[in-house]
Amino acid sequence: MQHSPKRPFRTFLGGSLLVMIIIQFVPLERKNPEPATVSGFPSEIEDILQRGCYDCHSFETRWPRWAYIAPASWLITKEVSSGRKALNFSEWERYGDMKKTELEEKIDSTLHKNTAHAKLYLTFNPTVRLTPQERVKLSSWFYPESPGNQ
Ligand code: HEC
Repeated sequence: MQHSPKRPFRTFLGGSLLVMIIIQFVPLERKNPEPATVSGFPSEIEDILQRGCYDCHSFETRWPRWAYIAPASWLITKEVSSGRKALNFSEWERYGDMKKTELEEKIDSTLHKNTAHAKLYLTFNPTVRLTPQERVKLSSWFYPESPGNQ
């Protein structure tokens, strides 16, 4: 029997396709539970948070279409669940005063650092990038004494 030179490649493709199909069945936590409470943010603040932060820091994630296809879906659900764990605006009212103070400072420094935070996400979603004015507005709301806003 003659082997076509394309065959190993075809086997590879077939195998990959099979793997791609199988991994779609790995169960994931890709839920938006009902927010525990309604946050008391003024609508101006709420709007900025919603656009720039809620996808990873609330139960109001706008799941993109590729969030349903493994393995991209693994990355995004992991990112969202660690984002929610660090800070969840849907649960803001449940945080104690100490936790809030700690988070307010972190929000402020995150906004001023403008670093690698959510970089990949912003590459895919350039329209949600906050303007410098929006950053200042958010950080002065959460942390009026912010040295970065003086
Ligand atoms: C693409 C997802 C994503 C978006 C969008 C996002 N974050 Fe995060 N954020 C994360 C993840 C993941 C973590 C936890 C790991 C880490 O600290 O990098 C986090 C952590 C944080 C923390 C805690 C940092 C610390 O030092 O513990 C703060 C504060 C924060 N984010 C603020 C924000 C604010 C404010 C916005 C909106 C302007 C925002 N994030 C948008 C993913 C995101």
